[in-house]
Amino acid sequence: VPAGLKISVYGTGYLGATHAVSMAELGFEVMGVDTDANKVAALAAGKVPFFEPGLPELLEKQLATGRLTFSTDLEEAARWGDVHFICVGTPQMKTSHAANLGYVEAATSTVAKNLTKNGVIVGKSTVPVGTAARLRELIAGLTPEGVEVDLLWNPEFLREGKAVDDTLHPDRIVLGGTNARTEAIMREVYAGPIAEGTPVVVTDLPTAELVKVSANAFLATKISFINAIAGVCEAAGADVTVLADALGHDVRIGRQFLDAGLGFGGGCLPKDIRALMHRSNELGAYRAAALLQQVDEINMGQRERVIDMTMEALGGSVLNRRICVLGAAFKPLTDDVRDSPALNVAAALHLRGAQVTVFDPEAGDTARASFPTLSYATSAEEAVEGTDVVLMLTEWKQFTSLDPAALAKVATSPRIIDARGKLDPAEWRAAGWEFRGLGRTAA
Ligand code: UDX
Repeated sequence: VPAGLKISVYGTGYLGATHAVSMAELGFEVMGVDTDANKVAALAAGKVPFFEPGLPELLEKQLATGRLTFSTDLEEAARWGDVHFICVGTPQMKTSHAANLGYVEAATSTVAKNLTKNGVIVGKSTVPVGTAARLRELIAGLTPEGVEVDLLWNPEFLREGKAVDDTLHPDRIVLGGTNARTEAIMREVYAGPIAEGTPVVVTDLPTAELVKVSANAFLATKISFINAIAGVCEAAGADVTVLADALGHDVRIGRQFLDAGLGFGGGCLPKDIRALMHRSNELGAYRAAALLQQVDEINMGQRERVIDMTMEALGGSVLNRRICVLGAAFKPLTDDVRDSPALNVAAALHLRGAQVTVFDPEAGDTARASFPTLSYATSAEEAVEGTDVVLMLTEWKQFTSLDPAALAKVATSPRIIDARGKLDPAEWRAAGWEFRGLGRTAA
């Protein structure tokens, strides 16, 4: 580590908090900054304000070294740092599919205006292609006289639930828009992972921006592909889980991201494919936009499919029926409920007059904050008690290892819909359950 290279990280969400802690773990002095004083206070006290396995331990360790600090003072961080990572959010606009770039622009301008020494601004946030070039112009007009600053793009591919490992051991490092000076600095910053063999792709700004959104679009397309095929399986009496395993043996296809079910949610995939759809249309790349439109529609259709299946299981109406929803997080190993398919289905059934009880091992509090009108149980068993139908909507390990025989005794009528393709129909049917699954055979 070059003596005294200081790293400022703007934004302390899943991306920024993990990045700040990981950079400290790599040996740098790091300041994590956020305008949200509560988040900053929590992190400074060693508390991660969201559930992310492994992060609390690493945060505590790095705070103890004294290398890692947190602040709400963006201007101070701009004066202090040599490398400035922009890790703020780019949520979907309320009124369109476009990404809201307000936070990225605000953070970048504040950094540029307050620099007191030469530096590098490194964009990590997921942005529509063309954003970085505009930010460069913005920076050029704001940077104080005599200070040399360059902007480059270094997208991040971390997954929630595996954020620390993905950050410290990435599949690849993409550097867009570097020059000799900034590439050398970035190679120093990532010397650890590079030494372990992580490939480095050096390219221009638009390619770097697009690598990120294309990766997410590809993953989303893979999921919607298998979900479309699940529909064919259901109609033809085939089983999509067996089919996916068979497809996955072809190394060109691969088994990952071929789990058919309720589809993708979360803070990234849905908004990123919509933003890419929007941007592709703006650029006149209509075919890409049309493809992504289908990916989005298939995905949202899976939620409808589960709602219809639930109505069907209960004889056509859910009015006043008791429904148990297992899972609230958008996927296991997180308490994130942003665009959660599970909660979307739970809320839709509640609106149709059902009495919905939700249980999630980690996301109960975040779910309650977003959907206060639903009921919440403190265990799977409690949620199942007296229920007319059980919906398994997020495949937490504790749900895939439930004992169907024991649960059959507490459910009013043992009916289950496995919307994640993780339960064994034969086992549940043998224990007396009426079993339905997406893309699974009826009997
Ligand atoms: C994703 C990308 O994986 C990551 O590289 C990027 O940086 C951010 O977006 P994340 O949102 O954490 O990460 O979730 P991911 O693990 O990709 O899952 C996304 C969604 O797809 C979840 O709702 C999950 O349940 C669903 N999914 C995943 C499926 O429905 N089927 C699958 O086979 C895989």
